Amino acid sequence: MIKELYTPMQIELRERARELAETAMRPVAAKYDEAQEYPWEVQKAIKAAGLSGVWIPKEYGGMGGGVLDLCIVVEEFSRACGGMGVGFAVNALGSFPIIVGGTDEQKERWLPGIAAGEKLIAFGLSEAKAGSDAASMQTRAEKDGEHYVLNGEKKWNTGGAVASYNTVFAVTNPDRGARGISAFVVEEGTKGYRVGKHEDKMGIRCVPVVEIHLEQCRVPEANLLGGHEGHGFKHAMITLDRARPGVAAQAVGLAQGALDLAMQYTHERQQFGQSVSSFQGVQWMLSDMATQIEAARQLVHHAARVIDSGHRHITKVSAMCKLMATDVAMKVTTDCVQLFGGYGYCKDYPIEKYMRDAKITQIYEGTNQIQRLVIARNLLREAAGGAN
Ligand code: CAA
Repeated sequence: MIKELYTPMQIELRERARELAETAMRPVAAKYDEAQEYPWEVQKAIKAAGLSGVWIPKEYGGMGGGVLDLCIVVEEFSRACGGMGVGFAVNALGSFPIIVGGTDEQKERWLPGIAAGEKLIAFGLSEAKAGSDAASMQTRAEKDGEHYVLNGEKKWNTGGAVASYNTVFAVTNPDRGARGISAFVVEEGTKGYRVGKHEDKMGIRCVPVVEIHLEQCRVPEANLLGGHEGHGFKHAMITLDRARPGVAAQAVGLAQGALDLAMQYTHERQQFGQSVSSFQGVQWMLSDMATQIEAARQLVHHAARVIDSGHRHITKVSAMCKLMATDVAMKVTTDCVQLFGGYGYCKDYPIEKYMRDAKITQIYEGTNQIQRLVIARNLLREAAGGAN
């Protein structure tokens, strides 16, 4: 990190996050990966370190940081464990709809608990038949007096089994397409809200990814985000624009963490009477990886700065950084496994976990095919004379 490019708070945040990652996350990463269990001890350590509300405005108990601050922390956590990185970042994904679309009363009600690390929050957009095509969701919310009655099933709900709150998107007006979708904060314990199947995953195994069942689930109308129907899809898209750099930062952290291990291993490993890192072929791989990681990191930080500046057009650069950083993470972690040779393929060494954790970053919060679609739509709009 070139310190002059960052604020004192960002430099301090990075140091604090790195120390926490090295002391509280790395030592237990393999244990929770194997057990596929949520690391409550890590959650408590994040809370104790005062990092739970990095992205939440100060007036609601947070640090008042922006997307760049969030990315700096997520990268450091993911360098030690990609699962713990997303376990943290998903709270930003779940709470951005409240920050961008909630009323003052709703922000006052839900954000301080999240900022304090007392409450976790998930994001319920996807369904079994509505993944990339998020607007085709079937979950319904029907008004009944002072409540909405929600029925449907959400899929791929990251952190849903441990979250106190879930930002759930549902159709309030089936005749209006994307404009008929609304967002609700559903609180744990609400009758008719049930956590279902836990996915058995390739990577990010310490974070539960679950199905959520909504069966005659009565949610007070006060939990309709913003107090108006029909804004949910727009708020989901605005949220994803702000959250995708977090996935990209997770990818950069994974790639950097894998390269750190490969640097050390190739230095120590002796073959043909010399250190493996003394071979030019290996040095070129290390150089390429370091260059790709730095390029990805700078695009992530650029995107985060554009978002934090309040610029109106953030969609394209957000998708670009997610696309690039996650593809870099997949390539770098795969190449690092290669550098470990046969040992890289075995769980005795920590490197294979990086490759498993990296794969999901190309898939969630919009597949990289969807990122390309989003980038292309914006490029063509700009070419036709729209703003960039
Ligand atoms: N910002 C603001 N508004 C936006 C927007 C944006 N970035 N993108 C679209 N909108 C608005 C449009 O302006 C339009 O509004 P109007 O009706 O008022 O004109 C409305 O939303 C519909 O837009 P589109 O017609 O462009 O929508 P679409 O159906 O063609 O879909 C899409 C667009 C980009 C493909 C979108 O569906 C998408 O992003 N899909 C991927 C979904 C995704 O990322 N899912 C991951 C969920 S989270 C997860 O992975 C699990 C987890 O827990 C981590």
